[in-house]
Amino acid sequence: EREFILSPSLLSCDFGRLADELAALEEAGLKWVHWDVMDGRFVPNITLGAPIIKALRKRSKLFFDVHLMIEEPERYIADFIDAGADLICVHAEATRHLERTVSEIRRMGAKCAVALNPATSLFDIEYLIPQLDMALIMSVNPGFGGQKFIPFTLDKIHELALLRDDWNPEMLIQVDGGCAPENTPDLVEAGADVLVSGSAFFGFPPYRERHETFLRAAGA
Ligand code: DX5
Ligand code: ZN
Repeated sequence: EREFILSPSLLSCDFGRLADELAALEEAGLKWVHWDVMDGRFVPNITLGAPIIKALRKRSKLFFDVHLMIEEPERYIADFIDAGADLICVHAEATRHLERTVSEIRRMGAKCAVALNPATSLFDIEYLIPQLDMALIMSVNPGFGGQKFIPFTLDKIHELALLRDDWNPEMLIQVDGGCAPENTPDLVEAGADVLVSGSAFFGFPPYRERHETFLRAAGA
């Protein structure tokens, strides 16, 4: 039985108070935090990079879940691991030799995940499932917080859960985009273990109570 995890997306926090926000999450009992790294090429938006993560690493014990929405992520893996990422998630669409990129992440000692945009087939990662700590199903097109959940991704989560049963029961399934307490029961039922939430989390303080609302919705 896998444990339900909420990974708040800092994209929706107050960037002027990042250190305080991280402290508040820890104080509220969260275990994970989700960093959205965007390069203005893979996605039409730019956020932050390894130096910011490194600076905040010193101030936080949270599990740093780093979602790279960048082209050729293989060029920056070492930087992000050096910055203190606990888990690195690369997009299947952004790297030409996905198996090599995944092996590099594992070899350098971080947990490894691969993300799929809504329209990308699950079969793009089928052969890699045994090597992944987590797979991320994007339930919006990445780039911005506050977008509407794309309903067909629910079936995709369920289909991935079936592949997982066959190839790697330990692998976590993460869902990112438009996750809220309202759709959490369906997402968990479909097979999700880790939900990312930006706007539906940071928009509803206090964080401890909001986390509990998600946990209740997950039946955890
Ligand atoms: C989307 C990012 C998400 C985003 C989620 O490009 O990868 O992590 O911040 O935000 P919400 O929960 O508001 O959809
Ligand atoms: Zn994300």
